[in-house]
Amino acid sequence: RASVKKITTGSQALDGLLGGGIETRTMTELFGEFGSGKTQICHQVSVNVQLPPERGGLSGKALYIDTEGTFRTERIKAMASALGLEPKEVLQNIMSIRAINTDHQIAIVEELQDIIAKDNSIKLVVVDSITSHFRAEYSGRENLAVRQQKLNRHLHQLVRLAEIYDLAVIVTNQVMARPDMFYGDPTVAVGGHTLYHVPGIRVQIKKSRGNRRIARMVDAPHLPEGEVVFSITNTGIRD
Ligand code: GTP
Ligand code: MG
Repeated sequence: RASVKKITTGSQALDGLLGGGIETRTMTELFGEFGSGKTQICHQVSVNVQLPPERGGLSGKALYIDTEGTFRTERIKAMASALGLEPKEVLQNIMSIRAINTDHQIAIVEELQDIIAKDNSIKLVVVDSITSHFRAEYSGRENLAVRQQKLNRHLHQLVRLAEIYDLAVIVTNQVMARPDMFYGDPTVAVGGHTLYHVPGIRVQIKKSRGNRRIARMVDAPHLPEGEVVFSITNTGIRD
């Protein structure tokens, strides 16, 4: 694990929970309810990966697969400016691709192999969200087995990319909150479950007061479980 690199999230507390930041060679799943901040973290890490190592980045580029049409260039620019980076340049180093359905999403990831093999400056791949198209297209109990099989294959391709090319993969997964969720089994929730069958790091994001959010590490293989608080501010993810 010595060769694993980390990308800062912008929050020291969240970085601490992650053992220093978002790791390369691993898939990190961010799961939580709507508005919890999953997309905001994806935007922030897409900016931060471009920072030099002494500022918590990898001097790398990002590839952002947007399945819900929530990628915001203005938000990227604001986050870049706040770090003293050139907004236009930062935006150019994030290749955003809109995936319109599951087949498209799968095809994009299959083509990534070639793109990344040619451009070794890509250090982050985001899929926001990994599950939305799958849930919409394969709804109903009778489709569950096919859905899980297709999704599993897709996820394992992403994990392989992370391992082969020493890059970070972040996927988001909207999971509805329910009153007993935080006391019950966190991997089973109304509206879906986390990707517990795939290797990687799982972080639950919960809403707190105002712009405060709680991040909770869930069954991490090499990290202690715990909770931290961070904020979503106008300049991005902060303590
Ligand atoms: P879903 O995709 O619906 O599951 O939600 P999500 O978890 O991706 O939530 P998202 O990251 O979109 O978080 C949205 C929240 O981030 C908003 O409700 C705001 O609280 C916060 N936010 C977004 N943009 C800004 C901004 O420019 N300034 C500040 N202060 N907060 C922002
Ligand atoms: Mg989102």
